[in-house]
Amino acid sequence: SQSTGPGSQSTGPVIVSHRGASAYAPENTLAAIDKAAQMGFSWVENDVQRTKDGELVVLHDATLARTTDVEEVYPNRAPWNVKDFTAAEIARLDAGSWFSPRYAGARVPTLKQYMDRVSHNHQKIVLEIKNPDLYPGIEQQTLKLLSNEGWLDPAHLTGSLIIQSFSVNSVRTVHDLSPGIKTAFLGRPSIALLPEYARFADAINPDHATLSSAYVSAVHGVDGPHGTPMEVFAWTVDDADGARRVAGFGVDGIITNMPDVVRKALP
Ligand code: G3P
Ligand code: CA
Repeated sequence: SQSTGPGSQSTGPVIVSHRGASAYAPENTLAAIDKAAQMGFSWVENDVQRTKDGELVVLHDATLARTTDVEEVYPNRAPWNVKDFTAAEIARLDAGSWFSPRYAGARVPTLKQYMDRVSHNHQKIVLEIKNPDLYPGIEQQTLKLLSNEGWLDPAHLTGSLIIQSFSVNSVRTVHDLSPGIKTAFLGRPSIALLPEYARFADAINPDHATLSSAYVSAVHGVDGPHGTPMEVFAWTVDDADGARRVAGFGVDGIITNMPDVVRKALP
């Protein structure tokens, strides 16, 4: 169940704060998950990639350019790929000023720092393995870190961790390596293909624009790898009409930059 507070819910879709409460604090920073917690929202989403020296870090884009001051700090390192910088180099960057001067000094968190804060805040996570083709073995490495941090213990496996990816191979790999984990495929496979995805994905998470009531029903009609109906989490819904639309389709979760807007829109 969700924590109490303004974001708490008794029924209806779970609200997931996308990259943290990223309309209100810089995406994928500790400040963004703290913001979600302060607003009363348990579930957060993030994006995981890997540095040159093998550290898992939380960042959305394949490059550091949009969400940090990397171009000023390292002007000769274009195109500023995450995978070409060490963890120590990335730790120097400011990941908050681009969003607002109020967040100057926010850092790109390591996945360990991020998971520690999720735990501290008693939050739950939809963890996205981003650009896995750039990072061979990132699934196994992520699972090892989660295991070391206690996230693969039965308590978490039953309700506070989902691992998702746009890469079907990545989702399948996570399921094969750690079959107890809840997984989600980001995309919208054809209805005919759902039984194939159901072998390794507990949820299908499509762009909200591609959704229909019939599609959500079709997903719910297929049992996932744990013998329960596959679920649907829609992204990224930031307005009241959109939230009511996908809730009307019967989605199980809504991934949003504005969790407060979605909460207010739902009955
Ligand atoms: O969680 C769904 C959403 O995050 C997928 O798209 O590009 O924001 O990672 P993106
Ligand atoms: Ca994401």
